[in-house]
Amino acid sequence: NYYAILMAGGVGSRFWPVSTQDFPKQFHDMLGTGDTLIQKTFQRLAQLIPEENIFILTNERYNDLVFQQLPNVTKRQVVLEPAMRNTAPCILYASLKIQKENENAVMIVAPSDHWIEDEQAFSANVKTAFDYCESNDALMTLGITPTFPNTGYGYIEYDKTATTEIKSVNQFREKPDYETAKSFISQGNFLWNAGIFMWSVKSVISAFKNNQPELFELFKSGYGSYNTELEDNFIKDNYERAENISVDYALMEKSDNVFVIPATFDWNDLGTWGSLYDKLDKDEDANAIVNSKTLLEDASGNMIRSKRDKLVVIDGLKDYIIVDKDEVLLIFPKEKEQDIKKVLQNVKANF
Ligand code: GDD
Ligand code: MG
Repeated sequence: NYYAILMAGGVGSRFWPVSTQDFPKQFHDMLGTGDTLIQKTFQRLAQLIPEENIFILTNERYNDLVFQQLPNVTKRQVVLEPAMRNTAPCILYASLKIQKENENAVMIVAPSDHWIEDEQAFSANVKTAFDYCESNDALMTLGITPTFPNTGYGYIEYDKTATTEIKSVNQFREKPDYETAKSFISQGNFLWNAGIFMWSVKSVISAFKNNQPELFELFKSGYGSYNTELEDNFIKDNYERAENISVDYALMEKSDNVFVIPATFDWNDLGTWGSLYDKLDKDEDANAIVNSKTLLEDASGNMIRSKRDKLVVIDGLKDYIIVDKDEVLLIFPKEKEQDIKKVLQNVKANF
């Protein structure tokens, strides 16, 4: 009865110029391990879930990339979205498809682009969640111990008095402002939302029905066509009408049956070049190097990436991102990595 929804529709614009709209980061080997992020995520999920029960939700423009990189996946497992509508629509859509196939399904919803170190610990946490969700009406999250007031994450306030591994959640707050995030962290019983969810198909569908009735009605109206040859047409005609909203706002902030398991594995959502740098092995001067051959003098703390075996020569550069990609060469201070998104807009407007 185990299923997975793998979300692979994002663009990863802060990883420009490697990640682009036509070829986003989840389809790249960002870590230089030989596997792309979506391949790594698929393998991680397949340790617990039958491969044929792993559904992939992505934009229609990534159709070829999905089937190239996951050659054993069949059309039944892939939903191609004609428009980006964030995570709530894609999760509800996939959940209804799964429900039609198996009313007793228990599932994990996972992003395709995260880094997880200890896969065994990850599997153990997910298994604990599955066991609980099988017999309880619960929306389960995985919580990460926060290290700074990051305003790009969801925050989970858990019940301080709970001594069990699974803790009930008092409050889920998506992307608070800086001051709020700071006060959350100082209170001690807040975790970051890892963006990975577990629940039974019954629980998630009833949560959508209660909290997002319009979205529920829209997709429920196509139920008859799900898993038939009429489905593609239903998606084409209706998907774009869905509200653009993330599951965090659509369900998690609104529900009172949210639970959290503090994650026992190291986690990184690989959102920026700096977060990738943190996770890579470094040379003796703390340079992280992906693919390149290098000749470095007086160079430290840099994130360097090029085509495989391209020689990169640097003298006198500290804490920079240096990324060489086909027709673009990016040289950017690491501390300004968040601005790459803006730079990309600028580039698009001018070139
Ligand atoms: N299929 C599909 N369609 N996938 C999508 C879409 C879409 O329209 N939009 C986003 N995704 C995928 C992204 O590729 C990513 O893997 C995942 O859904 C989450 O989307 P993000 O856009 O990266 O979300 P976020 O980083 O702002 O916030 C979420 O993740 C944080 C942890 O990384 C939230 O869940 C936060 O609460 C959480 O802390
Ligand atoms: Mg993210």
